[in-house]
Amino acid sequence: MLTKEQVIEQIGVLKDPFLAIPLAETSGIEEIVIKEEKQHVSLKIALAKVNTKEQMDLQQEIVAKLKQHGFQTVGLRFAQLPEEVIKRYKSVDDEAPTLLNGKLKTKFLAIASGKGGVGKSTVTVNTAVALARLGKKVGIIDADIYGFSVPDMMGVTKRPTLRGNRIVPVTAHGVQMISMGFFVEDNEPVIWRGPRLGKMLKSFFTEVEWDELDYLLLDLPPGTGDMALAVHTIIPSSQELIITTPHPTAAFVAARAGQMARNTNHHIIGVIENMSYFESKVTNQREYIFGQGGGEKLAAELKTKLIAQLPLGQPDEESGVRGSVYQADHPIGKRYEEIASYVIDNFM
Ligand SMILES: Nc1ncnc2c1ncn2[C@@H]1O[C@H](COP(=O)(O)OP(=O)(O)OP(=O)(O)O)[C@@H](O)[C@H]1O
Ligand SMILES: [Mg+2]
Repeated sequence: MLTKEQVIEQIGVLKDPFLAIPLAETSGIEEIVIKEEKQHVSLKIALAKVNTKEQMDLQQEIVAKLKQHGFQTVGLRFAQLPEEVIKRYKSVDDEAPTLLNGKLKTKFLAIASGKGGVGKSTVTVNTAVALARLGKKVGIIDADIYGFSVPDMMGVTKRPTLRGNRIVPVTAHGVQMISMGFFVEDNEPVIWRGPRLGKMLKSFFTEVEWDELDYLLLDLPPGTGDMALAVHTIIPSSQELIITTPHPTAAFVAARAGQMARNTNHHIIGVIENMSYFESKVTNQREYIFGQGGGEKLAAELKTKLIAQLPLGQPDEESGVRGSVYQADHPIGKRYEEIASYVIDNFM
């Protein structure tokens, strides 16, 4: 059997489950009474939170430990730690800057569209690379959990590694990135819904060891359905680029995405019209294959600026390089540098 001091020694090293601080340090052991003749010990333990599953786990641990040291019976009562003690220890945790508590200087830029296939991911990836080329520290969260495409577009085949229990993002073209694509096997479809989806998305912010980013770009799911709405509400308040094609109907649909952005507290900084025209290399003539005027109409409707009209065109072919990143000296690559400058100058 143990003396009072020995009980403190044994139990004091156990941690308050919510503060992750030893009970000895939080003065969480408030009372110890030992009745030697009955081989009985009773304790009063104060915790940051009581009546939780964690309290029950701790209770079992304490009882087991004390019985191991010769006590026949163990009486345990739990109480609430005083508020000032909780604050003293909790403040450390709360003040640690994370991407979701707004204590980092990282700026969030979300890329949205009214419908799929208009070039949202292409714009995300190339704007990120252009910002990095301008010397910014940039990350991408592929928030299109079901329709992930960022790793492929960045030409990435590596997977993230773990440092401790933190995920180290993959870097390509000077940009860090994380995507659901890294966590599914063989391009299987993802069928998560509801809470699991939200948890995954949140972990992209909190469990990834991002550098101290200047900009974090978010490739959103297309459209204005449940998925897009869920993601809009989970991510921190962001500046938002809306992507459309020049077709008036596409712009009409994109206006709803703009409305959704506003309803969920994001600020639209501009519209990008993609696939605006095709320019013949032979005659330099422009053909407006998908119609005209959509971007302008959308920008007017959302009371924002039409930042760019990007032509159709692929990155130059480089042997062995796969992906959708335009080279810095490619005509479209240069347009992305203008977009990146606009983002830097107009971030609110
Ligand atoms: N300006 C462009 N010129 C030529 N091809 C383009 C251009 N922009 C995008 N594309 C191509 O169009 C396809 C769709 O683009 P992207 O995947 O970026 O769109 P998205 O809006 O992200 O689509 P989704 O809704 O599926 O996520 C891709 O194959 C992409 O390479
Ligand atoms: Mg996409």
